Amino acid sequence: MPKLEVNVDHIATLRQARLGAEPDPVTAAALAELAGADGIIVHLREDRRHIQDRDLRLLRQTVKTRLNLEMAATEELLHIAREVKPDLVTLVPEKRQELTTEGGLEVAGYLGFLKDYVHKLREGGLKVSLFVDPVPKQLDAALEVGAQWVELHTGTYADAGSIKEAQRLFEELLTAARHAQSGGLRVKCGHGLNYTNIKPFRRRPEFEEFSIGHSIMARAILVGIDRAVREMIELIRV
Ligand code: PXP
Repeated sequence: MPKLEVNVDHIATLRQARLGAEPDPVTAAALAELAGADGIIVHLREDRRHIQDRDLRLLRQTVKTRLNLEMAATEELLHIAREVKPDLVTLVPEKRQELTTEGGLEVAGYLGFLKDYVHKLREGGLKVSLFVDPVPKQLDAALEVGAQWVELHTGTYADAGSIKEAQRLFEELLTAARHAQSGGLRVKCGHGLNYTNIKPFRRRPEFEEFSIGHSIMARAILVGIDRAVREMIELIRV
């Protein structure tokens, strides 16, 4: 059965817009779990633009499914991960100027550094996933540096300009997933997946898990607006 991990970063983005207390990603995570999510993902960025250290620590105490911490491979985050002990650490590339993670991690070009970094995480009892482009070179490198999981970057597939191009990119993801599995890696997928482009992934045992944030949060706001407005109208019209 494929699993769904829900990324709640956008809830924190909304909170940070007013630097207040709500909406709280910890509450959103609990609701996602109640709805059946198999795990919760947060990206603790170096610039702390959305998720804060407080969120991560509270989520570690409250998440009942699995907590997946996305982070850049820095010294600071290594210490935090080893202390907080999420159920999975996903290493992602990170640039200050980007709106969201833009591409897969360059693993093949940093074998020595990442071998050492992954080793330090695993030594701390952590499981490690690498967010990579669906190409054999990066998948082989992920195995070589000691990761247990890879998350295939589906952003290029999600941005395909035509159905034909999307089909070609989906085949590439499928081939990559098989390649990764044949080497012993477990396979997740994520980035840009939504209620439409997820369809080809159904009933494909190559993809064990999906990491989805934006489309779920975007839909949550829209399907929730009706009730939120009605509740305020009721309050002001008493
Ligand atoms: N996987 C990784 C590694 C990501 O960085 C993100 C975005 O935070 C996601 C999955 C989720 O992508 P989206 O928000 O587009 O569903």
